[in-house]
Amino acid sequence: MECSKSFRKALVIEIVFVVVIVVLLSGKNVDGQKDQSSDNFEYSAISCRTHGASLTDFGGVGDGTTLNTKAFKAAIDHLSQFASDGGSQLYVPPGKWLTGSFNLISHFTLFLHKDAVLLASQEESDFPVIEPLPSYGRGRDAPDGRYISLIFGTNLTDVIITGDNGTIDGQGAIWWDKFHNGELNHTRPYLIEIMYSDSIQISSLTLVNSPSWHVHPVYCSNIIVQGITIIAPVAVPNTDGINPDSCRNTLIEDCYIVSGDDCIAVKSGWDQYGIAFGMPTKQLVIRRLTCISPKSAVIALGSEMSGGIEDVRAEDILAINSESGIRIKTAVGRGGYVKDIYVRGMTMKTMKWAFWMTGNYGSHADNNYDPNALPVIQNINYRDIVAENVTMAADLEGIHGDPFTGICISNVTIGLAPKAKKVPWNCTDIAGVSSDVTPPPCDLLPYQGPKNITACNFPTERPAIDNVEVQMCSYRRNYL
Ligand SMILES: *[C@@H]1O[C@H](CO)[C@@H](O)[C@H](O)[C@H]1NC(C)=O
Ligand SMILES: *[C@@H]1O[C@H](CO)[C@@H](O)[C@H](O)[C@H]1NC(C)=O
Ligand SMILES: *[C@@H]1O[C@H](CO)[C@@H](O)[C@H](O)[C@H]1NC(C)=O
Ligand SMILES: *[C@@H]1O[C@H](CO)[C@@H](O)[C@H](O)[C@H]1NC(C)=O
Ligand SMILES: *[C@@H]1O[C@H](CO)[C@@H](O)[C@H](O)[C@H]1NC(C)=O
Ligand SMILES: *[C@@H]1O[C@H](CO)[C@@H](O)[C@H](O)[C@H]1NC(C)=O
Ligand SMILES: *[C@@H]1O[C@H](CO)[C@@H](O)[C@H](O)[C@H]1NC(C)=O
Repeated sequence: MECSKSFRKALVIEIVFVVVIVVLLSGKNVDGQKDQSSDNFEYSAISCRTHGASLTDFGGVGDGTTLNTKAFKAAIDHLSQFASDGGSQLYVPPGKWLTGSFNLISHFTLFLHKDAVLLASQEESDFPVIEPLPSYGRGRDAPDGRYISLIFGTNLTDVIITGDNGTIDGQGAIWWDKFHNGELNHTRPYLIEIMYSDSIQISSLTLVNSPSWHVHPVYCSNIIVQGITIIAPVAVPNTDGINPDSCRNTLIEDCYIVSGDDCIAVKSGWDQYGIAFGMPTKQLVIRRLTCISPKSAVIALGSEMSGGIEDVRAEDILAINSESGIRIKTAVGRGGYVKDIYVRGMTMKTMKWAFWMTGNYGSHADNNYDPNALPVIQNINYRDIVAENVTMAADLEGIHGDPFTGICISNVTIGLAPKAKKVPWNCTDIAGVSSDVTPPPCDLLPYQGPKNITACNFPTERPAIDNVEVQMCSYRRNYL
């Protein structure tokens, strides 16, 4: 039987590899501990894989200067044959692996060892230019195409990017400079972008210095982002952490983000392009997030929200030295909606604004937006929040003739900074209620009596994404 014969062959080769590695390690490892780079390890994932290979099997060189784009492509191309045979995993061992962009495949896991660093190439030619997103109509940095992201995937199912806290370094400085100097003809690459895909896990990694956004799932469903550390300098442009964009059923949990822009920005397309595409972001759960965003927001909704944003639940959030806690941004011409937003259990330390909303954000894709396309902002709930050293409690600015309604704020204590604004709440064109809020909110959020706001209540039904089961998987190199 051919298959059992090739299995036996694989096993023999595997044993040979293990022996070779044990021999190598016993020579190198003076402290005698089992080296993590050996061929077997375990990790938790939404699906396990039958086949595995290491980047070094395909000529990868982890010296920080050799370009590994071809090795990644060859490895993934080879492993693609196993998509319908239990799937495959590609192991990136310790080392500094310089690479240009490469594409993922379905039923595939990319696993980074804790001492593996993927270094993004600094050559524009290593990032082919792709079409603008249909829901945006243009690139965000420049009118036409976009440089493809470092790690890209489209039209996939069941794809995992994980590790034992390995690192992906976007080496973004040259891109930030080009952006500042207006030298870009195309939109900067993201670090990870997955489009039109289902069942995605991005976990246990450190992502640093993306040229622009770090993680961008767009037109996707069933996404788990877990245990991700994201660090970018706080003075560089558009280095958002995680941006779910026209996605359904997303969980973001246990993440630590320091960014020059929003830690999490929830989006769904831009003006007439996003309205026409019509794909909302919905059923999004965010929990146990720590964020430092001195120039922007902990969680932003918009400004691109033309396909709608609904059913967002955020809880157990720690914000430090950030501009805004929750920020809703929209404009006349955006259309779409932001509704059924629930936030509870947030601690904020040193903020410019705890809450910020504006219907006057502007920032249009082009001049052809529909001035009659008014966004609908309704049922926005914030509760159980303590903030300290805050310059202004809230700036809540709706749209004249299109007020933001159903705003509910309860059990919120905002300690003002020594140099706080004289008027802590500034509200126009909004409607809602409040209870147990200090300092007392504006007249447009009338006091409903203590513990008497049921509308502010966080939903109790279990989010669908929590039903995804995670299992322990193991890796063995057995591709040969
Ligand atoms: C991916 O899926 C989208 C939406 O179904 C489709 O429009 C597009 O052509 C597909 N792209 C590829 C490369 O298959
Ligand atoms: C992962 O590495 C980052 C950067 O070194 C570190 O800050 C973080 O605590 C690590 N996470 C885990 C879970 O070990
Ligand atoms: C951008 O386009 C201009 C005009 O077409 C060209 O001169 C320039 O070299 C391009 N810059 C880059 C970085 O490709
Ligand atoms: C008010 O919020 C605090 C956290 O800030 C929480 O511990 C407390 O249980 C909340 N009270 C009610 C009545 O929900
Ligand atoms: C309060 O915030 C200001 C900036 O607004 C900052 O300089 C100061 O260190 C903060 N104080 C504390 C105690 O965190
Ligand atoms: C209050 O909001 C209005 C617009 O609604 C704005 O013009 C004004 O600058 C705001 N004031 C403060 C102190 O933020
Ligand atoms: C709670 O609010 C409702 C209306 O919003 C009011 O009719 C009722 O008397 C209030 N109950 C208490 C205990 O304050």
